[in-house]
Amino acid sequence: MTAPAKTPASRTVIETRGLTKRFQGLVSVNNVSFAIAENETLGVIGPNGAGKTTLVNMISGTLTPSEGEVIFDGARINDVPAFRRAHLGIARTFQVMKPFPGMTVLENVAVGALFGRDGGVKSMAQARESAREWLEFTGLGKRIGVGADSLGGPDRKRLEFAKALAMKPRLLLLDEVMAGLNPVEVDEVVDLIKSIRGQGLAMLVIEHVVKAIRSLSDRVMVLHHGEKIADDDPTTVLEDPRVIEAYLGKRRT
Ligand SMILES: Nc1ncnc2c1ncn2[C@@H]1O[C@H](COP(=O)(O)OP(=O)(O)O)[C@@H](O)[C@H]1O
Ligand SMILES: [Mg+2]
Repeated sequence: MTAPAKTPASRTVIETRGLTKRFQGLVSVNNVSFAIAENETLGVIGPNGAGKTTLVNMISGTLTPSEGEVIFDGARINDVPAFRRAHLGIARTFQVMKPFPGMTVLENVAVGALFGRDGGVKSMAQARESAREWLEFTGLGKRIGVGADSLGGPDRKRLEFAKALAMKPRLLLLDEVMAGLNPVEVDEVVDLIKSIRGQGLAMLVIEHVVKAIRSLSDRVMVLHHGEKIADDDPTTVLEDPRVIEAYLGKRRT
């Protein structure tokens, strides 16, 4: 298999410089700098507590960095609130999904469509239409009318995914969308993610399933105790003795 062709002129969508987050003096993310270009997928791996979700929170705007910069489309967005970052085209999934209570699956995703890029779609009818399409796409087409809080684990992941896609993102941040899925479901989600690549979309995919990361990522970044210890093509990173030591050792079988 050959690597996907990349034009040298690929534009950077998201960049961090020296990004750091401290909680009560403990460093969760330590001086992390990286970039993702248009049409590029960055896989992010690392043990639990490595700082992966904290990194996503600083990019999506739910946490303020202690130090460093978040740069989107060439502009510093440290002080831009989360809802405006959504308008800019930054969408994320939550690791632990809390659907809006009392709302149907369709309504949950319609909210994504209404608050997405460029302020979202302009009418509820359009939002519902868009929601319906993305729910079909993620395999939830038959469940649009049920209460979102009645969904089981894998379907909640699909809902999260549909909601993020309905925002028409330029940067999609996926935080462990495959956790708890069986191998067949993992393959389905991998295919879904592959099918949305292109059209300028930049993706950051946090995942523990190494096979999925290998097949999805143009590059893989490894976080360990909040620090970036590797950032290279998937084969190089997944064969790196330091990465195996820090993370992969028990997972290789
Ligand atoms: N809101 C918070 N307050 C205090 N500590 C936090 C908070 N969020 C994350 N942490 C700490 O930051 C570290 C990194 O957590 P996290 O980013 O969730 O890791 P990962 O997603 O890689 O498992 C952990 O030690 C965690 O306990
Ligand atoms: Mg996490």
